[in-house]
Amino acid sequence: MKTKIYTIGSGDDDKAFRTAAKLIRSGKLVCFPTETVYGLGCSALDGEAALRVFRAKNRPADNPLIVHVAQPSETERFAFTNPLFEKLAERFMPGPLTVVLKKKDIIPKEVVCGGDTVAVRCPSHPVAHRLIAECTVPIAAPSANLSGKPSPTTAAHVISDMNGRVSMILDGGDATFGLESTVVRLLDDGIVILRPGAVTREMLMEVTENVKVDPGVTDPSSVHGPVASPGMKYRHYAPEAKVILVDADRENFRDYVNRCGVFGDGVLSFVEDLPFYRPCLTKISIGRSSDKKDECHELFAALRRADELKCARVFVMKPSEKGVELALFNRLIRASECKITTPEKTT
Ligand code: TXA
Ligand code: MG
Repeated sequence: MKTKIYTIGSGDDDKAFRTAAKLIRSGKLVCFPTETVYGLGCSALDGEAALRVFRAKNRPADNPLIVHVAQPSETERFAFTNPLFEKLAERFMPGPLTVVLKKKDIIPKEVVCGGDTVAVRCPSHPVAHRLIAECTVPIAAPSANLSGKPSPTTAAHVISDMNGRVSMILDGGDATFGLESTVVRLLDDGIVILRPGAVTREMLMEVTENVKVDPGVTDPSSVHGPVASPGMKYRHYAPEAKVILVDADRENFRDYVNRCGVFGDGVLSFVEDLPFYRPCLTKISIGRSSDKKDECHELFAALRRADELKCARVFVMKPSEKGVELALFNRLIRASECKITTPEKTT
């Protein structure tokens, strides 16, 4: 299949959005930027189109898709909402929060893999928002990567994975946040985080005090049998390079990597630390140490870079589990296949 690639702002945006919306309404696949990562979208009301999404990504058949709406108020057409959802929508939508709700019949079984719930999200990115609004149907969209690869945060990543597999790619520059949305399920009296993201536990606690983190978030090895969110059980976010997640402070991390790293290994490093690594190592920047948002923004691109540079192994410092770092930890613990290395302290 020939994939149309259009860069937003490079010509006739109106025509590009019209074309993309028409493709989606006719059951075709279109990739687009959001404020989290790029999505691979189809009409959420078209079961056949949803099956095409699973095929294009090689996605496991039991991992449901998120339904993206243009306005939070549209949610009740597709799902049963409640007062807690309304509060979350008021505070965090549009934005990087996905809420799992009981679904209504209008959402085909193919979108939700036969389950009785649907995950709903209202993106804040202007390109995503305009596309969904012009489609006049909600868009079912997983991240626009081949299954098992890190999620795409640039159009180049999407082109590398999806060229020839989708009808159109809208290039809207870098995704803003860089990690996928926070996914939550609602309890009678609280919230369970199934996947951490830019909307942190601390932020959710401003809406209700009872915010739990599903055990699978920090310990994927605890996930067996039926799970709250099928995405938890797959080896996600994995580059070809073996990811060595090191539990050490900055100085001990640098020492450990310099001691154990050999030619062909890479290190994900804060910009300020780049000069302190031995020259034989491949150094990949993850931004400034002072701003965890940099690391979120850079992480997936850095993991892809490690593969482009043919790193055999790549060392990464373990994030904490506080604030937005819980999202980083959640992606990295999967990428490292649940292994954490604790070096002996030398200082
Ligand atoms: O930021 C995002 O959420 C991006 C952009 C494109 O919106 N989308 C994304 O989709 O990350 P995907 O398919 O890569 O991840 C969706 C996650 C998976 O872990 C899946 O298991 C979970 O959401 N999920 C989807 N529907 C669910 C449901 N009904 N119940 C529980 N978990 C669900
Ligand atoms: Mg994904």
